[in-house]
Amino acid sequence: MLSKLLSLSIIPFVLGGPATLAPSAATPSTPGGNVSATVAGPYSSVTTSFNSSSTSAATSATSSASANTSGASTTTGVITIPLSSYSFTPYPTPTLNPRPPVYPATDPLNPPSVSSDPQVVPDFAPAWAAAYQKAENLISDYTIEEKVNITTGVGWANGLCVGNIPPNKNFPGLCLEDSPLAVRFADYATAFPAGIQVASTWNRALMRARGLALGQEFKGKGVNIALGPMMNMGRVAQGGRNWEGFGADPFLTGESAYETILGLQNGGVQATAKHFINNEQEHFRTSESSNVDDRTQHEIYAHPFLRSVMAGVSSVMCSYNLINESYACNNDKMLNDILKREYGFQGFVQSDWSATMSTLSAVAGLDMTMPGDITFDSGNSYFGGNLTDYVNDGYISMARLDDMATRIIAAWYFLHQDEAYPATNFNAFNSNDEVNNKHVNVQADHYKLVREIDAAGTVLLKNVNGALPLNKPRNMVLIGSDARPGKFGPNEFSDQGGSDGILAMGWGSGTGYFPYLISPLEGVQERARQDGSSVFWDFDDWNTVLAGNMAYGEAVALVFTNSDSGEDYITVDGNQGDRNNLTAWHNGDDLILAVAAQNNNTIVVVNSVGPLIIEPWIEHPNITAVVWAGIQGQEAGNGIADILYGAYNPSGRLPYTIAKDIADYPAQLITDDSGNEIVPIDYTEGLFIDYRHFDQANITPRFEFGFGLSYTTFTYSNLGVTPIQSSGTDQEGLITAWKNGEASPIAEGSSTALWLHEPAFQVTFEVTNTGPVSGTEIPQLYIHFPSSASEPPSVLRGFTNVEISPKDTKQVSITLSRYDLSIWDVVAQGWRKPDGQISFSIGASSRDFRLQGNIPA
Ligand code: BGC
Repeated sequence: MLSKLLSLSIIPFVLGGPATLAPSAATPSTPGGNVSATVAGPYSSVTTSFNSSSTSAATSATSSASANTSGASTTTGVITIPLSSYSFTPYPTPTLNPRPPVYPATDPLNPPSVSSDPQVVPDFAPAWAAAYQKAENLISDYTIEEKVNITTGVGWANGLCVGNIPPNKNFPGLCLEDSPLAVRFADYATAFPAGIQVASTWNRALMRARGLALGQEFKGKGVNIALGPMMNMGRVAQGGRNWEGFGADPFLTGESAYETILGLQNGGVQATAKHFINNEQEHFRTSESSNVDDRTQHEIYAHPFLRSVMAGVSSVMCSYNLINESYACNNDKMLNDILKREYGFQGFVQSDWSATMSTLSAVAGLDMTMPGDITFDSGNSYFGGNLTDYVNDGYISMARLDDMATRIIAAWYFLHQDEAYPATNFNAFNSNDEVNNKHVNVQADHYKLVREIDAAGTVLLKNVNGALPLNKPRNMVLIGSDARPGKFGPNEFSDQGGSDGILAMGWGSGTGYFPYLISPLEGVQERARQDGSSVFWDFDDWNTVLAGNMAYGEAVALVFTNSDSGEDYITVDGNQGDRNNLTAWHNGDDLILAVAAQNNNTIVVVNSVGPLIIEPWIEHPNITAVVWAGIQGQEAGNGIADILYGAYNPSGRLPYTIAKDIADYPAQLITDDSGNEIVPIDYTEGLFIDYRHFDQANITPRFEFGFGLSYTTFTYSNLGVTPIQSSGTDQEGLITAWKNGEASPIAEGSSTALWLHEPAFQVTFEVTNTGPVSGTEIPQLYIHFPSSASEPPSVLRGFTNVEISPKDTKQVSITLSRYDLSIWDVVAQGWRKPDGQISFSIGASSRDFRLQGNIPA
């Protein structure tokens, strides 16, 4: 620690620098073996089979690609890529005529404003078409090698950013940089709240604003492609990276992703939807096969990516794992068929770092390999010279290579990055690089937004005897290390892999440097000053006797605890990315009980990456309030103080279920490979993740999905539901067929079609604030499908946020699309309305329904 301390004081950003970064990349074995592939569509229509070692002569062909290569590129001997047989037109997806205002032609720099009523369906097709035109022109005189260069990263740590595409003629190259919550490895940048925090706000405007502020910061630093948002699903409560994402429900995750991407791209940076797909735990992330049925894949895990495509996302990152025994970056079904054909995705697919497993992945839909080398610093690439050879030898068609390069360059034009975009002005790999680190301050006043999201995403779980908001307490004590600043500042641990103070980020690549970090001690003290309260503290988590003594006699005892997790390449306290359990860290349960034993106004504040089992203390009569404060970024202590003192009336809602017992969750972490080289993870729970399982199996959770208290109360009344006339007539046939229970047809862009997503029903109701103070209610709409659908009892399909003064009533409206009322028909491969009556509830959580209605036929 001493050496860290020394280097920290001399070179502030050396800690956590990429020199210490060692993501556990996929480690494919020596290239070699037979390759067979049935190639269809415009690529060619032959079945090829060859021994890769026999291609070594071909690989000697000249290549200007960045990495040296030899041999062909398989990892396990014979591989067969089941290539799709549909006729694939690379671009652009046919679009309907724009129909303002629901379906306006949209430029990503000028997105529709935030709205859930009506649900706007932006049409990016004209903007994509214009971008494709420019991209085709640009590459029209490129050689094969030059096109390949566009698809191949320069190799690990060979450029300024974590990923780099080299310049080529008049194309300046691309900088790809983490993370979903900050410009990673950059100074003068804001440390935003994590994805899980903004999801907990259930507030589209805040999701959008955070995306925009992040997008502006990435652009200011000269990053072309931001590596976020992250939208894996929180299938496993202990999943190490869940905090980077948006919770355990596909609809909430999808809306969070949609707004974040619209915001990021409005700021000018290209967004990356990651990780596609089923990277749901960190253990074995490069060697597990997530075995997922087609319906579950469509309805749960792929849905947020569909919404990303609808937001015009420029890039999608394929994940490390296998899906149904085929690597994600080599997965024709997921990349070509679902993402590009069914969703009509126009941008490019990039690999996660070293997740490319084969040159033929190009044919399976991979467009860009990152960081370029097969493994970090290996000096060879599956693309680069290998890709050149495969094209020269006819194994991969020129049309496909053109498509790859065009997609990547089109995405750059799509965001207008050809128009005076800033050059990269920091070095992610060297904080001492005095030439490239220009120390551009991109923070603006984003700290204000951080603080607002911190408060808005904080969930009040318990509040009795009017414990909160605090009312000028005479004295108080803050107990637990989570209340204080980290011992050596907020960037003490490399990639935030550890914490000994307030927990305000998880760990791994999804992090950034904190410019500063307000602890609860600082936030609360500053506010306490206004009341003249006396503040005491005790940060020793392990001396429970002292904690009890400190708490005795105080008007309020605030106990702080946390729980951390992250990416697999860092192990903290024996937790290899994923959490080993769902227990509070740093002796949290005992500390809380010791304080509660001595003080009958004990208030617990929790900073956790996800759910915890809180049974040991939640019903303790001396625990008067519980504040679920989440993962807040640089303003954490202020956000917490705003909630404690009522400067912000709590409106956050849980984006996951808090169970009474870890065994109550439907999917458990797998940490034992049982001797398998590829570890099977069977998604046997299917559609029944998180609350869907608790509802179905009739298990009472401690706090259900969607739950959260306020300092005021709300009532609901006057429910109405009316069909909305379709805005055009050219799709009437499809709409009639849908009404008759037929599945949507198989076509390009079929799952993102306007007729499916335009508002079809409007649900209206009134909400009254019946309590003493202004507050924001989060009405939630849950669909109950008929039994023929075999769906979970309730599925979230709408939410909004409405701010209401005391005694006031506001009318609220939520629209539903035909897609919202459909299930995925595996046989027909389309979206279908199930037979029978569809009903719905409007509620304050997934179990607190206030109004019920039926969808008209
Ligand atoms: C992570 C990605 C990240 C990439 C680049 C990988 O290990 O899974 O989320 O964007 O590294 O740092």
